[in-house]
Amino acid sequence: MATRVKPYAESAATFIPERPTLEKVRDAAKGCRACWLWTLGTQTVFGEGPRQATVMFVGEQPGDQEDKAGRPFVGPAGKLLDRALEEAGIDRDTVYVTNAVKHFKWERAERGARRIHKKPNDSEIRACRPWLDAEIALVRPRVVITLGATASQALLGKQFRVTKDRGTPIASPLAEAVFATVHPSAVLRAPDPAARAQAEQDFIADLKKVARHLAEHGHAQRLRRGRAAKTRTETRAAKPPRGRAAQGELPLAARGRR
Ligand code: URA
Repeated sequence: MATRVKPYAESAATFIPERPTLEKVRDAAKGCRACWLWTLGTQTVFGEGPRQATVMFVGEQPGDQEDKAGRPFVGPAGKLLDRALEEAGIDRDTVYVTNAVKHFKWERAERGARRIHKKPNDSEIRACRPWLDAEIALVRPRVVITLGATASQALLGKQFRVTKDRGTPIASPLAEAVFATVHPSAVLRAPDPAARAQAEQDFIADLKKVARHLAEHGHAQRLRRGRAAKTRTETRAAKPPRGRAAQGELPLAARGRR
């Protein structure tokens, strides 16, 4: 019997370059064939933001506009995130935004040309994970914020419930603290204007808790420095290694060799 050869590698680990830097990894991700979604999306949508970012937001996957632009969170959900960050006093220019899955998964609307978002499944999330691990290892954010169930469960476990544990710092080897909150798209999907206004206020309240956590842990200064640092090329030595990075584990983990 003929064996079917899959046209993809099942894990992005094989695409992670030796001696990874953010630029090298971003470049390598352009040619990712770790799952079939590369055949569906226009392009890889890698994370974006300063390498010195104190805060990293992790969403689910790029949407229609992100797929076309090749940049994360530039569509309606991104605009809402921008507004909420401003309300919470977190400078968008100092945060790194990325997604659990780097290609847009969609299906054609029954009528019309619209591309409808489809939730990525476990094997697609798993295949893409080495890119996210590499971003976390290289940016080393103090705080990771997961947006919605897909990102939260990818990073905090399948049993994690955003509704139950949103807005509170969660201990994790990924960063000093991980916060989970709803996805801005969920705010946009609220059934009526009153529910939408409430959902937006709750989302902003969660981000304010992050801002407070950063200030209480002495990272407010870093936020300001992060903006200036964006224009410079800083070396990794600018931040002392922490946690698993201090033990030299992360570059290996980023290549999926755990
Ligand atoms: N939703 C996401 O999860 N990520 C994006 O980049 C855009 C919308």
